[in-house]
Amino acid sequence: MKVAVVGTGYVGLVTGVVLADMGNQVIGVDNDPSKLAQLRAGISPIYEPGLEEVLKRTIQEGNITFTDSIAEAVEQSEVVFIAVGTPPAADGSPDLSAVKSVACSIASGIRSYTVVVNKSTVPVGSGGLVEGIIRDAGVPEDLFDVVSNPEFLREGSAIRDTLEADRIVIGAKRREAAMKLVELYAPLERPMHITDLASAELIKYASNSFLAMKISFINAISRICELCGADVGDVAKGVAADKRISPLFLQPGLGWGGSCFPKDVQGLLRVSQDFGYDFKLLAEVIEINESQTANFMDRLSKRLGGFSGKHIAVMGLAFKPNTDDIRYAKSLAIIERVLGEGGTVRAYDPVAAANVREIHPDIEYASHVYEVAEGADALILVTEWNEFKQVDLVRLRETMRQPILFDGRRIYSAATAVKAGLEYHSIGVASSVPAQ
Ligand code: UGA
Repeated sequence: MKVAVVGTGYVGLVTGVVLADMGNQVIGVDNDPSKLAQLRAGISPIYEPGLEEVLKRTIQEGNITFTDSIAEAVEQSEVVFIAVGTPPAADGSPDLSAVKSVACSIASGIRSYTVVVNKSTVPVGSGGLVEGIIRDAGVPEDLFDVVSNPEFLREGSAIRDTLEADRIVIGAKRREAAMKLVELYAPLERPMHITDLASAELIKYASNSFLAMKISFINAISRICELCGADVGDVAKGVAADKRISPLFLQPGLGWGGSCFPKDVQGLLRVSQDFGYDFKLLAEVIEINESQTANFMDRLSKRLGGFSGKHIAVMGLAFKPNTDDIRYAKSLAIIERVLGEGGTVRAYDPVAAANVREIHPDIEYASHVYEVAEGADALILVTEWNEFKQVDLVRLRETMRQPILFDGRRIYSAATAVKAGLEYHSIGVASSVPAQ
């Protein structure tokens, strides 16, 4: 099938290369010339395991090309995906300006029947908005349909998530349009849910908000554990053993970040308000998430007697492992808190340091994990990269001014840390101190 994908960010690029790898003829569209040059050379502009290999392969096989002209790509395609960003505007509602301008350009390229697919996360009703823009641009109603096909891939496992999706959601007004996507996705052999437009749009927000709620719930339990002397690890395991709950997205820690959960929980809260429903639960989900890191840092501040004059080591900067994405990363809130209260920071991340350096040229960056803790008054584990799980804690401790470890993702056992001579503080569990 001939497919155009407008926007070569996470969602657009992964969708484009996977469809190309399935044998479709794909045109990727982006307005950033440097990104286009990279893509044409087979270089992925984002760090995502496996993505570059598929990109290179599909270019070599001639199944994917890149252009900056939406109209040109649309003219040659039967299905056109909109996969541009919908960042939160100042009031928390998703900013749809990129979606609107892309819809206008798509309208100018439609020559024969085209299915326009919205993959960007957009508020309920946006399918109608895109349809209205294309219709108002003079495209006859029988020449196009708008379909909502939300994306559920995770950064770090994007290719696998796309190939092995739990479900493919297709929301459309007319069955014929939905069937075009069923045909496109059929080789993946995944369960497909065909709904109306609004339901498909809401499935995306509800899914991300539910997952964020699960994490906030266990993080709230971790706070109770800290107060009553329970261990949230044992509590989470016991709760998750109930198949109806499941252990997935029940990992306590510093809270959720990234480009999706913060935007989508806020987005659903706003959308609900706009429709006249005050979704107070979501406001609390956000509040728990924000106070989780603040509480962790309060505990560290108390232990150190404030951050003024203290040197803090930060291990991990990305919002989660296997990505260089730092949007709403907890590392940023931590760095800002320490700097704001008169401390200094040295950080290390296997891939995300360059991105943080752009925002924070005011901290030091270690080029190796064993350099991060030199002279530190405390070491904070922020992102649970695999290489940190295997790290030699004795070697790290030997370089520190004070042997204090705050594990924000619960990746070390208290016994191992204490054996390495470190004071061990974590989330939802009592602190452990080596015997004097
Ligand atoms: C999330 C969803 O999982 C995807 O299904 C969805 O397609 C995507 O948003 C999107 O809307 O585009 P992503 O943001 O890549 O994917 O990352 P997740 O793996 O979901 O992690 C989100 C955050 O939750 C991270 O900060 C992670 O550290 C945190 N998390 C996750 C926890 O704190 N505990 C957990 O148990 C799981």
